[in-house]
Amino acid sequence: MHAPALRPAEPPRDCPLCPRLHNFIAEWRAREPGWYNAPVPTFLPPEGEEAVELLIVGLAPGLRGANRTGRPFTGDYAGNLLYDTLVRFGFARGDYEALPDDGLELIGTAITNAVRCVPPENKPVGAEIATCRQHFFVPTIERFPNLKAIVTLGMIAHQSTVRALRMRVAALPFIHGARLEAEAVTLFPSYHCSRYNTNTGKLTEEMFRQVFRGVKEFLSE
Ligand code: URA
Repeated sequence: MHAPALRPAEPPRDCPLCPRLHNFIAEWRAREPGWYNAPVPTFLPPEGEEAVELLIVGLAPGLRGANRTGRPFTGDYAGNLLYDTLVRFGFARGDYEALPDDGLELIGTAITNAVRCVPPENKPVGAEIATCRQHFFVPTIERFPNLKAIVTLGMIAHQSTVRALRMRVAALPFIHGARLEAEAVTLFPSYHCSRYNTNTGKLTEEMFRQVFRGVKEFLSE
């Protein structure tokens, strides 16, 4: 959809742009030297970026999930529902075993986070969201020449995606289950598949599947 990326879409392992996140990761490197503890790269299908028609955008790595394993949503409670749903609708193949070397492969799909570093209490602040968007999220979206659909998980990921596309948040509001035209791509906002949202019933498995059913239909139209 866009010209090829001119800037790197992946932060360096020691990305210093957000001091609070950089320090938080440094603390966890000392506490858990066996963990990944670095900005988590986008998860791509084996065919590479040209194959990507669907991008899934999460908020930020979970401390004991992606920050530990190095692959988005991997080892998180949220990953169980996400990867189960992706396999069910043909966006991934293989068995998800919550490990980065479980052999699970994405099909025409990539998964990234609006903020690449784990934030304290799972809450990035506005400046961190804006910095990561400007430096890495915009180039991430631009690296996929055949991108058609974006699933945004939760309000923060949604709004950062809209801004990364240089569109107005008021024109493309977060509404679970909606289909929003953002020029060359279509956005599919969903409540985040977090443990909190599924435990409280804000998001049921069926509601989440319905979002991906819609994406599947859209991509085969
Ligand atoms: N794990 C991620 O990688 N992203 C999220 O948004 C939540 C958990």
